[in-house]
Amino acid sequence: MKPENKVLIFDTTLRDGEQAPGASMNEKEKLEIAYALDRMGVDIIEAGFPVISEGDFHGVEMVAKNVKNSIVCGLARSIKKDIDAAHQSLKSAKNPRIHVFLATSKIHMEHKLRKSKEEIIQMAIDAVKYAKSKVSDVEFSPEDASRSERDFLFKVLEEVIKAGARTVNIPDTVGYTMPELYGDLIASIKNNVPNIHKAVISVHCHNDLGLAVANSLAAIKHGARQVECTINGVGERAGNASMEEIVMALKTRSDYFGCSTGIKTKEICRTSRLVSKYTGFVVAPNKAIVGHNAFRHESGIHQDGVLKEPTTYEIMRPEDVGFMETGLVLGKHSGRHAFKERLKLLGVQIKDEELDKAFIRFKSVADKKKQVFDEDLLAIVEDEVKVFQKVWTLESLKAEIGTDIAPQVHVELKFKGKTFKKTSTGDGPVDACYKAIDDITKMKGELLDYSIQSVTQGKDALGEVTVKVAIDGKNIIAHGASTDILEASAKAYINAVNKVISQKK
Ligand code: KIV
Ligand code: ZN
Repeated sequence: MKPENKVLIFDTTLRDGEQAPGASMNEKEKLEIAYALDRMGVDIIEAGFPVISEGDFHGVEMVAKNVKNSIVCGLARSIKKDIDAAHQSLKSAKNPRIHVFLATSKIHMEHKLRKSKEEIIQMAIDAVKYAKSKVSDVEFSPEDASRSERDFLFKVLEEVIKAGARTVNIPDTVGYTMPELYGDLIASIKNNVPNIHKAVISVHCHNDLGLAVANSLAAIKHGARQVECTINGVGERAGNASMEEIVMALKTRSDYFGCSTGIKTKEICRTSRLVSKYTGFVVAPNKAIVGHNAFRHESGIHQDGVLKEPTTYEIMRPEDVGFMETGLVLGKHSGRHAFKERLKLLGVQIKDEELDKAFIRFKSVADKKKQVFDEDLLAIVEDEVKVFQKVWTLESLKAEIGTDIAPQVHVELKFKGKTFKKTSTGDGPVDACYKAIDDITKMKGELLDYSIQSVTQGKDALGEVTVKVAIDGKNIIAHGASTDILEASAKAYINAVNKVISQKK
């Protein structure tokens, strides 16, 4: 593959993805995702919008300090204060990039910015020059480019490239464009911006009409060589273009696109799971590439075909995206060594003390459940290896429920070696359980969202509960897994409390 046919992957899960309502992550969660993105070969990680909040600033700083291969990027409006914050937060990055943006569509210029075309051009030039005085790698985005007047857009691009921008990004900010139109826009930029050969053309599509991936691919077909995207397509409103879909489309149809990326596709499912866990956004079962059913064949004719020859109904190999087949792997007689080896095969690296805890947990799950599948193992490990301190832990839980009695739940929690107990009633067992936890921990939580998913199939499957809880003015997403759904619910809620306490510390 010629170097000019490499498409750079610019991941903005930690910036535009995090702008999705309710998706906010803490610094450690962001760092874990950044490590996963780096490991999968992402070229550029947009780690945040540093001027926006202290949390965002530190998030970018932490990613910049720790990520070793990917370029780390911070977003800034075209004003000095933003560029200074981005620069400061990227101080320890090996490869820093500042991404400045300024709207160029008539609607945005008139109503939002209240600036003339001349003022916009000058602001863009000044911002790029200022960013360039801080770092050598500067990207410029004319926000709402797809609704901007073409001649004006060409002029802005020419000027920012002259001012030093190495990448010019063409955002479809409101998800308005169509594949053919967007492809044509990219082709016209190539033909009408005289110095365009000095910059990489990037694309950034939102999914308001469900076309973000199609639009991005059309742009690549017409010469874009950087694509901005997010894992699972998370992002503002209907989200951004999904990275896994773009990468696999380019790989599967390399005959059509003639392009490749540097992404290690086997890391896709694992990274998708991590992002789903930390954002609290469950991936739809029919989601392309990473959905639970993406490689499952239900119809007898299809199953027969796949068994005879997988390519009859599979255009990609599940293992190429790290999709694990649900094979029976371990049971209650399996030892620590087998457990450790299986985790290694699944690509899980954990410290010895975490492995010990996960193994004890595995044994207790294996006691209740005859078959322990790979997905169960991952849920157990994720449940045990926390990116926050486990201050409160669940000792025991007893519930009295029935169709004609008020549910009553007795909870025992441990804190610094001491056991605390409380019995509560509520509208349902989960409500009663959460009231008891509130009473014991003296943390009043408001449950904003609750969902439960079975990790594998069967009546004895592990249930994974995800909760969104408002505590102390913060919206916290947390998880808990168990074969007992009330226990999983309790663990998720306790984890939310622990997260708040860890953040305070
Ligand atoms: O959608 C958009 O226009 C953006 C820019 C900041 C690139 O996210
Ligand atoms: Zn965006």
